[in-house]
Parts: sequence; structure tokens; C-alpha cells
Amino acid sequence: MEEGYVKTYIEGFDEKMQGGIPEGSVVLLVGQPGTMKSSIAFNMLYNGAKEESLNGLYVTLEQSSKSLAKHMVTLGMNPMDVVNNIEIIDIGLIRKKLTQLQEQSWVQVFKMYAKNLKETNDYQLLVIDSLPVLNVLAKFENPREDLFHLFEWLRDLGVTTVLITEMDADTKKLSEHGEDFLADGIIYLRNAEIGDISVQRQIRCVKMRAANHNSDYHSLLFDGGQFKATKAISQSKI
Ligand SMILES: Nc1ncnc2c1ncn2[C@@H]1O[C@H](COP(=O)(O)OP(=O)(O)OP(=O)(O)O)[C@@H](O)[C@H]1O
Ligand SMILES: [Mg+2]
Repeated sequence: MEEGYVKTYIEGFDEKMQGGIPEGSVVLLVGQPGTMKSSIAFNMLYNGAKEESLNGLYVTLEQSSKSLAKHMVTLGMNPMDVVNNIEIIDIGLIRKKLTQLQEQSWVQVFKMYAKNLKETNDYQLLVIDSLPVLNVLAKFENPREDLFHLFEWLRDLGVTTVLITEMDADTKKLSEHGEDFLADGIIYLRNAEIGDISVQRQIRCVKMRAANHNSDYHSLLFDGGQFKATKAISQSKI
């Protein structure tokens, strides 16, 4: 691993952030539905495991672990290839199975798992898919304050965290409860309309504390099992 940075494994994009995400950061991966948020996050864990033997934990709340695994197989990233390094946990399923946990809140169950696994597996990368769903399930009474504490808790865990969040297509707000201010970094995904009929996937690093990053939009391609970012061509030039 490049000293102090965790790679996104998006070719051409890590270079724009001085090598990747600074270790220990809590980063938002934000975008509208279907912008490949889950795929990008899993791709980070998958390649981190394959290339650098990094351990990772993928917490899925939105999609079952089975459905996520199936989707990743179609993208050429079979979770079985990295089963020794990557754990996918489905909190909904755990809660259903362990009836004694019914009394505990979703956040408590999440924290318990994340902490226990850190001790046994010493993972370096954590993905939460997704924060708004955790927010809803957790029934936070005071979301701003509770999220502030969750971010602090994640920083204390000593891992690099990717929090997947959804962006409201109408308001275009990056977050509902100020997560954008709490996060150390924000990576934004969009489907940009090119002319009347074409749509292009794009990615941009909105902020990354402690890194001198480029903020431009880049076209995002997924080709031969590899994500690539290239400079986006503006509409007027097409
Ligand atoms: N082989 C592929 N190459 C490029 N894109 C693909 C491929 N397979 C699936 N997709 C696209 O990936 C998208 C879904 O990716 P993913 O589930 O990672 O997105 P997401 O942003 O997490 O979506 P959601 O909002 O549903 O959680 C779909 O829109 C699909 O068109
Ligand atoms: Mg998803």
C-alpha cells in the first residue's frame, strides 16, 4: 500500500487524490440510485484483498448479502475469491436469527459486530451500505448528534470507512443531516446527461481532507473488470 493511503482501485482516480483515501478517514460515497456505489465500494475491498492482502468488512443493510454477492459475481468479483479477507455481513439477517438481539438497536448490533471482528480479523477497511438505511433503522432521535457520535466512533475504530449514501435527485443535497460536514472526504457519483439521449457515468472527489486533490468530474468506465476514470468531456465539445 502506498504509505498512508487506501486505494479506490479506480484507475486514473487514485492519482487525482495523491494515491487514494488517507488512511483512517471516514468518507462518503454519494450518488443517485444505480450509479454503481456498491460496486465501487466492493471493488475497493476486493482489490485491496487481492493485491495487498488487506482485510475488509462490508456491512449490508440495503441489499441482502446473497443478492450483493450475486451482483458482484456478474461484475467478475466473486466474494469467494477473497473469502479469507473479506467478510460481508447482513445485519438484518443477524438480527432475525439471533432473537436475543431483538432488544438491541441496529446501531448497537452494528457496533458490536464491527468491534468484535476488528479484534479477531483486524480489518483495515469498512464499508457501510448504506448510511441512510442505518439512519432509518436506528430511529435516531437526534440524527445530527447521533451521527456525530457515530463518526467519532468510526474514527476511534482505527479503520478507513466508506459510507454509502444516497443523494436526493430533486434537491441535489449531498446529505440530510450534515454528514457532508462530518466526513473527511466525499466522492460523488452521477449519471450525467449528454445531449438528449446519452448518459455518462461520472465521478468526482468533492473533498478529501489531508490530500491535495483534483475536483473535476471524470468519466467512469467499467471495463474488463476494472474501473477507470478519464477526464470528462464537456457537453459542448461533443
Ligand atoms: N458489467 C457491467 N458493466 C457496467 N455496469 C454494470 C454492469 N453490470 C451492472 N451494471 C450496472 O451497475 C448498476 C448497479 O450497480 P450498483 O448496485 O453498484 O449501484 P448502486 O449505486 O449501489 O445502486 P443502488 O442505488 O441500487 O444501491 C446498474 O445500474 C447496472 O446497470
Ligand atoms: Mg447499492
